[in-house]
Amino acid sequence: MSDFHPNIVAFVCNWCSYAGADKAGGQKLQYTSDVKLIRVMCSGRVDPQFILDAFRKGADGVMVLGCHPGDCHYRTGNLKTMKRIKLLQNTLTQFGVNPDRLKLDWVAAGESEKFQRIANEMSRIVSSLGPLKLRGFVETGVLA
Ligand code: FES
Repeated sequence: MSDFHPNIVAFVCNWCSYAGADKAGGQKLQYTSDVKLIRVMCSGRVDPQFILDAFRKGADGVMVLGCHPGDCHYRTGNLKTMKRIKLLQNTLTQFGVNPDRLKLDWVAAGESEKFQRIANEMSRIVSSLGPLKLRGFVETGVLA
């Protein structure tokens, strides 16, 4: 068993996913401390540059968690995010980064157990991938 504990940044939308994570805490559901939350008003607010910056600054994995489709408080923010994440995953793949290091999912305010499961699964996946090594990737200028 490895001693590696990945750094995972989770951008969570204020209205659903943050509330789901908060509920998980309130219920004392245990989830990995590998995941660090950054609250944003909408998953659509997560500029792709935020994600690249997170990787550049040491994240081994990044999650974006938002409201379920149809529930976005800004109507289409999460739908735009879905397209952006797919594009980013393709870009990461082209630069030799496993796209599993970037995850998009939906967590409603009442889905504390789903939040717990997603956080723990992401930790397992990124742990199995090991630390992200960006040497060469940064040199391309993509993460400069
Ligand atoms: Fe939650 Fe837009 S407000 S994804």
